[in-house]
Amino acid sequence: MASRIDVSSASLSGVSDLARRFAATRQLTLDLAAPLSDADVSAQSMPDASPAKWHLAHTTWFFETFVLRDHQPSYRLFDDRYPYLFNSYYEAEGPRHARARRGLLTRPSLDQVRAWRDHVDAAVQAALPGLPPAAHALIELGIQHEQQHQELLLTDIKHLFAQNPLGPALWEPEPRFAFEAARSSAPSASAPDPAGALTWVTGAEGIVAVGHDGDGFAFDCEVPRFSVLLTPHALASRPVTNGEWQQFIADGGYRTASLWLSDGWAWVQAQDVDAPAYWRDGRCFTLSGWREIDPDAPVTHISLFEADAFAAWAGARLPTEHEWEAAAAPLDPAAGQQLDAAGPVQPAAQAAATGLQQMFGSVWEWTGSAYRPYPGFRPAPGAVGEYNGKFMSGQFVLKGGSCATPRGHARASYRNFFYPHQRWQFTGLRLARDL
Ligand code: AVJ
Ligand code: FE
Repeated sequence: MASRIDVSSASLSGVSDLARRFAATRQLTLDLAAPLSDADVSAQSMPDASPAKWHLAHTTWFFETFVLRDHQPSYRLFDDRYPYLFNSYYEAEGPRHARARRGLLTRPSLDQVRAWRDHVDAAVQAALPGLPPAAHALIELGIQHEQQHQELLLTDIKHLFAQNPLGPALWEPEPRFAFEAARSSAPSASAPDPAGALTWVTGAEGIVAVGHDGDGFAFDCEVPRFSVLLTPHALASRPVTNGEWQQFIADGGYRTASLWLSDGWAWVQAQDVDAPAYWRDGRCFTLSGWREIDPDAPVTHISLFEADAFAAWAGARLPTEHEWEAAAAPLDPAAGQQLDAAGPVQPAAQAAATGLQQMFGSVWEWTGSAYRPYPGFRPAPGAVGEYNGKFMSGQFVLKGGSCATPRGHARASYRNFFYPHQRWQFTGLRLARDL
């Protein structure tokens, strides 16, 4: 049976593999932040986003707390004031600095945070061979956690830089950092290809099993595996493109109340929304600065509200998370446009092909499914039990990973989640319809 916050994965992959992946993951975070100044890494552009320095520190706190403090009796905290600053939301770990005020932490400096990282990295590496399996499982969880924060670091920097009239680029023109590719070596085509015509791919019908099958790491919210009933349906062969979104805008999509959920319509009006985030004057802001909008690339930075209204306009609907997962289960989760050394961190069009395209990578795909526990879900005991379960209210599931998801992190059973108005992640959509 797949365990919660999977304890079996570390022993399966072996201690030296765990040490290697720990080192590579810690290094990638530094590489992503390498172009940033101490000023860049300290600013916070909105309460949902965190400063890059906070990501560097919080991921370190996670290992220091749950691996070293809890499993290495001789370990002493690097600085006993840091847990208050860098505990994100764990009530069991005590009080913490307010999320919306993370941008006021001009101290510790970037250099001090980097020194803490080095200290914790060395202590984890030294302790790792002698640690019990439960601690190895927490190192695995810490690696997966840090990968989530790598994506958040990029989307948070994008949001910060988008507020600056100078339109700074994180990378000019493309990322240059070492990346140890996981599982799949071949980056997908990211050349300017025309998107293929949208076709419909019939999905599985009847009783199907969903949830993690127990092979490798999974978060607790992906288990237990269980059965669902899928009604006759089809999925679009590819995500909705910018060009299609421009048609929705031209057709008055943002001004037509009948297309929108009531909460969505209130959001559009209150926020004066008339396009995806980061669009202005026919251009869009990217991590490489302002760029032309590619009509063939998947649309991104849309809320669930916008995705749902577009689907209504198109005479379709959003897929359920189970329809999506059943269709993705046979596909390679390490394929597609994901974070690695090769391509731009901005969704790109892929050449026309048959079957389901861009299921993994490119954009997170909103589903119509509420982020709720699977039957039999039990959070892990202790503070790490707060990791996912307590957020299962009012959020929707997104599937497939994005161009900013580290390659090797996503899988068919992966459940990302955000509130329906949020759109600073690389969010997009794939249409579904009933047959
Ligand atoms: C799954 C992306 C919604 O942003 O809080 C980071 C990831 N969990 N640290 C989030 C996460 C703990 C999580 N999301
Ligand atoms: Fe976190």
